[in-house]
Amino acid sequence: MKLLIIGAGGVGTSAATIIKRRGAEGDWAEKVVVADYDVARAEKVANEICGGGKFVPAQINAMDADSIKAVVKEHGITFAMNACDPRMNETIFDTCLECKIGYLDCAMTLGTEHPEKPYELAHIKLGDYQFAKQKEWEASGQIAVCGSGVEPGMADVFAKYAQKHLFDKIDRVDVRDGDNYGNTDSDFGFSVWTTIEECLQPPVIWEKNEEHPEGHWFCTEQFSEPEVFNFPGGIGDVEVVNVEHEEVLLVPREIDCNRVTFKYGVPAEFRRKLLVLHEYGLADKRTKIKVGDAEITPRDFVCKVIPSPVDATMTMTGKGCAGTWVTGWKDGKYRSIYLYQVADNQDCIQKYTTNSVVAQTAVGPVIMMELIAKGIWSDAGAWGPEHFDPDPFVERLAKYEFPAGIREMDSEYADMVNEQAMLDLLK
Ligand SMILES: NC(=O)c1ccc[n+]([C@@H]2O[C@H](COP(=O)([O-])OP(=O)(O)OC[C@H]3O[C@@H](n4cnc5c(N)ncnc54)[C@H](O)[C@@H]3O)[C@@H](O)[C@H]2O)c1
Repeated sequence: MKLLIIGAGGVGTSAATIIKRRGAEGDWAEKVVVADYDVARAEKVANEICGGGKFVPAQINAMDADSIKAVVKEHGITFAMNACDPRMNETIFDTCLECKIGYLDCAMTLGTEHPEKPYELAHIKLGDYQFAKQKEWEASGQIAVCGSGVEPGMADVFAKYAQKHLFDKIDRVDVRDGDNYGNTDSDFGFSVWTTIEECLQPPVIWEKNEEHPEGHWFCTEQFSEPEVFNFPGGIGDVEVVNVEHEEVLLVPREIDCNRVTFKYGVPAEFRRKLLVLHEYGLADKRTKIKVGDAEITPRDFVCKVIPSPVDATMTMTGKGCAGTWVTGWKDGKYRSIYLYQVADNQDCIQKYTTNSVVAQTAVGPVIMMELIAKGIWSDAGAWGPEHFDPDPFVERLAKYEFPAGIREMDSEYADMVNEQAMLDLLK
């Protein structure tokens, strides 16, 4: 695979350094072109951090199809990883289709809130644009993995793994993300633009009920339904809230279930700051304002002012946990399982130069690209990660130094297993 990483920010840098750290095991990527609008950043990652060789820098404008095509042609690229913010998705996705090369992104094409009832009805949903082109991707013979990363991404693979190995029938899939990060001035762990977007869009939920027996998506208010979830890895109890996320759109496409939600531990003070941005129009991504000779949106301005999370999280301590809480039925009993991956910030900085949020994000896409390069994931079309066999992905997580675990939670099924364990000691 001749790989083009578009965007040398937190996620793009992590993807390159994860491949580098694999040594000869990373030879499925014969060439890795690290490209960014900011060519100095691409050079730093390819030459300084990854040490050159098969890592090559390039300048690219991901908003411009011709610029992408030129880099693809110059380097004989066969697969592109989109590690830019999702405003660029349509251009990169369509250009890859046109060039007949594979594609993967870590955030899907954006949704638009319902014009009259934004906190009630779903409207244009995350990824709608991409799934509308499913047949074209199938015909091209190429794979587009939409919504890779950790959440979405690894969390979706975990849902599929649970379906395959742990349940007879699934009831709910609830993605839960929490951390115990401290010693940082930064509220942001990854792309500032995307964090503002996902936190301030009306969160979406999938549900089957009497009125909608086939299931439907609906929306709620920002940060709705707070709940306390107990996370492994020494993190403990964290309050998590609903946030708009791709897993809720992806999982029901492949896994039959009654409810899908995404909640993460946005601290109360950070929620307040984000809502203030919203209230004063500073999160606005549509209205262009003339400032001197430039025309920018209020959100462009905010993103310029807030320090890059790549630099601002270097002293951060603590761990982040990403995972999928799946409930359903097994052997006639109700069962509850959390499948998770915990990453330590300082450990990731030492290994990959990047924080645990973006390193944990990048490992999934790198594994997926290895599976595609080796023909293990081979179904042409535009898919979410849950479309493919989860086993070879899960098998590789520990080899890539991101070991995952499953936690059997309190349930009827756990009681049965625990009671049997008591008797088994007598055998
Ligand atoms: N799925 C997940 O779990 C997950 C988690 C974190 C981030 N993400 C997604 O990953 C993506 C990257 O996040 P990040 O934290 O690395 O962002 P970042 O802001 O650190 O990096 C983005 C990079 O894109 C470059 N860029 C901006 N405009 C460009 C253009 N026109 N052409 C070329 N390059 C351009 C910037 O210079 C920057 O280096 C985002 O879409 C984010 O939502 C997904």
